[in-house]
Amino acid sequence: MAVERTLSIIKPDATRRNLTGKINAKFEDGGLRIVAQKRVQLSKAQAEAFYGVHRERGFFNDLVSFMISGPVVLQVLEGENAIARNREIMGATNPANAAEGTIRKEFAESIEANSVHGSDAPETAAQEIAFFFAGTEIVG
Ligand code: CMP
Repeated sequence: MAVERTLSIIKPDATRRNLTGKINAKFEDGGLRIVAQKRVQLSKAQAEAFYGVHRERGFFNDLVSFMISGPVVLQVLEGENAIARNREIMGATNPANAAEGTIRKEFAESIEANSVHGSDAPETAAQEIAFFFAGTEIVG
């Protein structure tokens, strides 16, 4: 296994309910290190560009509206096998399918308001990290 970095977003449904600390504890208890973090309000253009791969999906407009409905916390998580590990800690996209103890099982409200985003592969992790963070903002 190799040390990897992955992009994580704590979404507006979770920041609204003041769950940042509880979610961060899941990452840290799960063996990941938060090596960059900032709380921001995304613009519509940023949300559309970040989720550009989903532009043709029926849920795209609702997803963009949701992602700009309140602040998000952007993070870089680091650790052994961090991309897959983070996906285990988050649980399935749809909370109805998420395993016990995962973030989405405990906190997600719906398939859209599912509390967290995590990169799905090494290439997307690199792209997504570079989309939001300068190298100097990441301190391992
Ligand atoms: P995320 O992992 O951030 O990637 C795309 C997001 O689209 C997903 O989490 C959900 O917040 C949202 N979404 C809304 N509806 C769907 C759907 N039917 N399938 C997948 N993702 C969806």
